[in-house]
Amino acid sequence: MTKTAQGRASGKIILMGEHAVVYGKPAIALPFAGVEVQTTVTETCGDLSVNCALYDGLVHEIPKVYESLKHAIRFSLYRLGVSQNPPIHVEITSTIPAERGMGSSAAVAVSVARALFAFYEKELTDQELWEIAQSSERIAHGNPSGVDVTTISREKPVYYVKDQPFEVLSLDFPAYLVVADTGRIGHTLEAVQHVADWIEVENQGSASLSFSPQGHIEALGQLVIESQQALADKNVTSLGQLMNRAQTYLVDLGVSDPQLDHLITVARQAGALGAKLTGGGRGGCMIALVADRQQAEKLMQALETAGAKGIWIQYLGLEGEDK
Ligand code: PMV
Repeated sequence: MTKTAQGRASGKIILMGEHAVVYGKPAIALPFAGVEVQTTVTETCGDLSVNCALYDGLVHEIPKVYESLKHAIRFSLYRLGVSQNPPIHVEITSTIPAERGMGSSAAVAVSVARALFAFYEKELTDQELWEIAQSSERIAHGNPSGVDVTTISREKPVYYVKDQPFEVLSLDFPAYLVVADTGRIGHTLEAVQHVADWIEVENQGSASLSFSPQGHIEALGQLVIESQQALADKNVTSLGQLMNRAQTYLVDLGVSDPQLDHLITVARQAGALGAKLTGGGRGGCMIALVADRQQAEKLMQALETAGAKGIWIQYLGLEGEDK
């Protein structure tokens, strides 16, 4: 019988704290089971090959733009101590829209590492998985905070501060997030660089700034702390307001865009208690908060009419209690 093994990983949503998390502020993120990556590794008689939506061929011929995928495969094999060109085929299928702030690249790396370790029947520790996926993310995103890899590899809602042990949040919040995709490819690297440029301008003492970028980063971090309290207090109205405030800072920092702004406005007009972009921005997805499923479904319709390219609902309460 042909030897085969599988690995999977879900997407993620940053509830609060994107961009500020790069500067050592906290972020709250959760796994997003609505979308996922499945990787299947199968024994073959040829060279190491891979098939995914973006590439089909030999691993050593993967073009530079997909270098992070090549790295996830090669680094996993290195950690496994097996040859760099074993006779296996890696098949990746994904329902996570690529480059939309849902953690697609981190999820691919996590599922690939899981599948390869399962294939070679070796235990994959949390630390090893984190290192493989985070080093692959460094190639995809430059200097990632680690929030994506932590949330996706641990499969738990987290309160995350860069370079510190993360805290698992036991989410028991009586509300729903509606997630909508603008359909426009997000530009995380560009958006992160844009914020860095603002900060550089501020540090050079430019008088032309209408706001303090570093002040906004501080404020975003403070909103995350307040959001953690709102989650603990089960205060849906308060969390919604905090999300709206975060969005105003993210707009000032130049990481939103007209499509995101449009869907966010539509969501608020359709009754969302709060709405903001999620992830790197400049394209990608937005999230909106509502208190019940009926409201969530109403919002889905409004967002679809407004042109959203994919819409999902995520319950924030205890698993199995979705009403
Ligand atoms: O766009 P995504 O899903 O890669 O999320 C990026 C989140 C940022 O805070 C903007 C960057 C980071 O490294 O945390």
